[in-house]
Amino acid sequence: MAVLNKLTSQQAIELENKYGTHNYHPLPVVLSKGDGVYVWDVDGKKYYDFLSAYSAVNQGHCHPKIVNAMVHQAQTLTLTSRAFHNDMLGQYEKFACEFFGFDKLLPMNTGAEAVETALKLSRKWGYEVKGIAENKAEIIVCENNFHGRTTTIISFSNDPVARDNFGPFTNGFIKIAYNNLEALEGTLKSNPNIAAFLVEPIQGEAGVYVPDEGYLAKAKVLC
Ligand SMILES: Cc1ncc(COP(=O)(O)O)c(C=O)c1O
Repeated sequence: MAVLNKLTSQQAIELENKYGTHNYHPLPVVLSKGDGVYVWDVDGKKYYDFLSAYSAVNQGHCHPKIVNAMVHQAQTLTLTSRAFHNDMLGQYEKFACEFFGFDKLLPMNTGAEAVETALKLSRKWGYEVKGIAENKAEIIVCENNFHGRTTTIISFSNDPVARDNFGPFTNGFIKIAYNNLEALEGTLKSNPNIAAFLVEPIQGEAGVYVPDEGYLAKAKVLC
C-alpha cells in the first residue's frame, strides 16, 4: 500500500494545483479530520462545519453508528450489482419510502444523476401517460438554477461558467423566473407539452434565494 505523507497546508494545495483539474476554487483550508459538527485542518485548527459538504454530511462527520455499519458491510459483502438481489436493498427501500412517504425509490450516486433520472422519468410520463407527441416534451426550470454539471443539466443553466464551450446543448427546457407562481401558471396553461417543473426549494448558486412562504406547495398544486 502506498504510504501517504503528512503534508503542510501549502504542500497539499500545491499538489492539488499541480495534479488536479482546476474545476473548482476551494478556500485555502486543508482539512484532515472531522467529528460531528467539527473539522480540523492539518495544523490542528478546529472549525465548525456549517457547510456539511453542501448537505452530503448533514448527519455530521464520522458518526460511530454509520462508521460501524459501513465497516460491517464492507467486511461482509462488497457489491452485488443489480444483476442479483441482495438482502439489504429491499429493507433500505422500504425504510426510505415509508420515511419520506414515497411509493418507490431509485438510489443514485449523485445529485446530477438524480436530476437526470428525474428528467427522463418525467419525459417518459409525458409521452406514455399525458400523451405528448414524440420528442415534444418540455420541462419548466427556473432562471439561475443549479442542478448539476452534466451536459443536459448545463443546457438549462444561465451561468456562463457552467456553459461556455460545452455546447451543443439539450433542447426541451423553458426557463421562468424563480418564486413567480404567475409565470409558472401561465406557462403550464399555455403549453400542452409540459412534462415537469424542476425547482430548488432554496436557490443556492446565484446567491441564496428563499422563496415566499407557500411557493412550493402552490407550485405543486398548479402542476
Ligand atoms: C439543488 C442541487 N441539485 C443538484 C446538485 C448536483 O449534485 P451532485 O454534485 O451530487 O451531482 C446539487 C449540488 O450541489 C444541488 O445543490
